Amino acid sequence: MATNPAAAGDRLFLRARGIGKRFGAITALEDVDVDINRGEVLALLGDNGAGKSTFVKVLAGAHRQTEGTLTIDGQDQTFQSPQEAATAGIATIYQELALAENLSVAENVYLGREEVSRILGIPFLRKAAMRNRVNELLEELDAHIPDPSLPVGGLSGGQRQAVAICRALNLDAKLVIMDEPTAALAVAETRKVLSLVRTLADRGCAVVLISHNISDVFEVADRMVVFRRGHKIADKRREETTPEEIVAFITGAHPSLRANAQTDRQEINNNLHNR
Ligand SMILES: Nc1ncnc2c1ncn2[C@@H]1O[C@H](COP(=O)(O)OP(=O)(O)O)[C@@H](O)[C@H]1O
Ligand SMILES: [Mg+2]
Repeated sequence: MATNPAAAGDRLFLRARGIGKRFGAITALEDVDVDINRGEVLALLGDNGAGKSTFVKVLAGAHRQTEGTLTIDGQDQTFQSPQEAATAGIATIYQELALAENLSVAENVYLGREEVSRILGIPFLRKAAMRNRVNELLEELDAHIPDPSLPVGGLSGGQRQAVAICRALNLDAKLVIMDEPTAALAVAETRKVLSLVRTLADRGCAVVLISHNISDVFEVADRMVVFRRGHKIADKRREETTPEEIVAFITGAHPSLRANAQTDRQEINNNLHNR
C-alpha cells in the first residue's frame, strides 16, 4: 500500500520522542520514539519487564518521564496527573477495569460525571438522558448489552470491557489505551472485545493495545511496536511483518538483534585478546 505522508500527518495524534524513565537505578525506558495515529490500532508487545506498562503510564499521566517529550496535536504536553491526560483525551482501561459492581451499566458509564439538572435550585440526576446516551453508545459499539439499568455485577467479562469502553467514549477519549483486555476472557468473548477495539479505531479513535496474544494482535492491529529491555526494537505495519518475526523480536531471537549480540561478543573477544 502506498503511504501518503500528508495523510499520515493528518492522522498523527501523539508523538513520543526520546522517552526515558528511570526508577532509581532501574532504567525502565530508554530513548523511545513512538507515533500514535488516529483511526489506528497500535499493538504494544514485549516480554515481561520490557517497559510496556511504564510507557503507557507515561502517556496516561500516571508516571512522569525522566527524559523526552510528548506532543499531542502538535503541542508539547507534560502531564502532572492522570486527570490532565484524561482532559487531553487519553483514557486508560486497566485490567481491573475499575467498575462499580453494584451500580448499573449506565451509572458506571457516567461515574463521577453524572448529568444533573436543577429545578428551583435542587439538583436532579438526568437519569433518562443518561440511559438514552448509554443506549446509543452500546448500540454504536454493537455491545449486546440489552439493558443499561442492569447492575454490572451480573455481566460477563466481555460485556464489562464494553462498559469500560463506553465510559472512555463518553469521556470523549481520542486515545484509548488497553492493557491486556482479553487476558481473562473465553474465546467468544475475546472475539467480541477485539471487534470493539476495531470499532473504536474505525470511529477515528487511536487505540494502544498491550497484548501477549500474537493471533489476537494480528487480527486487530494495524501496527506493532515491540519493546525489549526498555528499548523500542521494532515498529512494523502488519502487512510488512509476520507472527514469526514479531515473536522473534519479543524473545530476542531475531537476526537483527543477534547481529548486535555478535558484535558485542566480538568486541568482548577483541578486548580480551588485546589485553
Ligand atoms: N514503580 C516502579 N518502581 C521500580 N521499578 C519499576 C516500577 N515500575 C516498573 N518498574 C521496572 O521497570 C521495568 C519495566 O516494567 P514494566 O513497564 O512493568 O514492564 P512490562 O509492562 O513490559 O512488563 C521492570 O524492570 C520493572 O521492574
Ligand atoms: Mg505490564
